Amino acid sequence: MKSDSAAIRKRYDRIAPYFDGLEAVMEGLFFKRWRQKLWAKVDGHHILEIGVGTGKNFDYYPADARMTAIDFSPQMLGQAAHNKHRKAVVVELNLMDVQSLCFADNSFDTVIGTFVFCSVPLPLKGLKELYRVCKPGGQVLLLEHVLSSKPVIARVMNFINPAIVALVGANINRNTVKHVKACGFASVRLDARSGDIIKLIEARK
Ligand SMILES: C[S@@+](CC[C@H](N)C(=O)[O-])C[C@H]1O[C@@H](n2cnc3c(N)ncnc32)[C@H](O)[C@@H]1O
Repeated sequence: MKSDSAAIRKRYDRIAPYFDGLEAVMEGLFFKRWRQKLWAKVDGHHILEIGVGTGKNFDYYPADARMTAIDFSPQMLGQAAHNKHRKAVVVELNLMDVQSLCFADNSFDTVIGTFVFCSVPLPLKGLKELYRVCKPGGQVLLLEHVLSSKPVIARVMNFINPAIVALVGANINRNTVKHVKACGFASVRLDARSGDIIKLIEARK
């Protein structure tokens, strides 16, 4: 699986300079308003963002929070560092794999990620790490696209998934809600505005 991580990291390194441009239309049409909904749910002082990418969530960081963010792609993190300085955002950026986080148990009030677990090679391992570093009573908030529950659409998604992975390193057929439920959280709920494919997941430890 190490080689899987290396391959995915390489893909993100490759697309990092173009990432924001590639997603610009979807960002404007859909993602932006989902980000607003997700970040409105953040609470507590010490917040960890996983898979920060180019820093598209910087605009939503709470002004009074202590922010830490990680990504395993040096080039994506480089774009985030650039945007951090450009936007004067206060955040500690770390090169780190979500599958083995270098933080102590029970460190963060909220752990948050947007569109990350589609590309983590071992999603359950990564999600268990989020559980571990989240404080008891804290929350994990995720915005993820998952496999459709509609059989015909799911078949198409499964069919084209290998091509999407080869192109951008993201899987479009993940069962992330099921994986979150397997991590031992006290509660896992989906925001009622979640759709068939886009899920806003709220897990409380
Ligand atoms: C689709 S991008 C999303 C970026 C950002 N969260 C956003 O909403 O625009 C996925 C990001 O997750 C990162 N990522 C994927 N697997 C990871 C892992 N195992 N550890 C840390 N970061 C990872 C990628 O490098 C990439 O920056």
